Amino acid sequence: MDVVNCLSCNEFIDRFANIVEHTPKVAEILEKRRPFQNLDEFYHTLEDVLKNDNHVDREEILRKHPDLAGKLSLQGLLTQESKKEQLSAGLSNITEEERSLLTVLNNQYRMKFGFTFIVCARENKLNSILTGLQNRLKNNKNDEVLIGMREVKKIAKLRTMDIIHSLSC
Ligand code: GUN
Repeated sequence: MDVVNCLSCNEFIDRFANIVEHTPKVAEILEKRRPFQNLDEFYHTLEDVLKNDNHVDREEILRKHPDLAGKLSLQGLLTQESKKEQLSAGLSNITEEERSLLTVLNNQYRMKFGFTFIVCARENKLNSILTGLQNRLKNNKNDEVLIGMREVKKIAKLRTMDIIHSLSC
């Protein structure tokens, strides 16, 4: 954790700005809560910020994520992090039919809940993403805010590990 605690304020915010997609506010809040004793404490603090901080709008976070294999991906406009995650789920290698099905379900999901379907892409492949979408479409909005934020947390932890790894090299 020394390497994280020793970063300048600006450098910390810069490095951690996208652990939650398009939400640098989370990095700004985390920066003020340094130093961290260890990675566990960092993760606990991250969870606390995502769950309890009044400056963090959970539905806005869910809205700011791009669709998996959606328009932004086709246009090459994803963040580096999202691009890498979607690649690891194999979403750059799907057929037109599979992409269409994903688009229909992503759109249904957004119509029902008002935000993006989020799943930790690095822990999934196309089939489990499609099954997850179909199952989660049956939920109510309150449950989906909780489930979506749980996935955001997983994504943020993996992005954090990547950053710490790169800082240690
Ligand atoms: N899972 C991991 N990254 C992403 C992302 O950028 N968008 C969505 N919807 N899910 C993700």
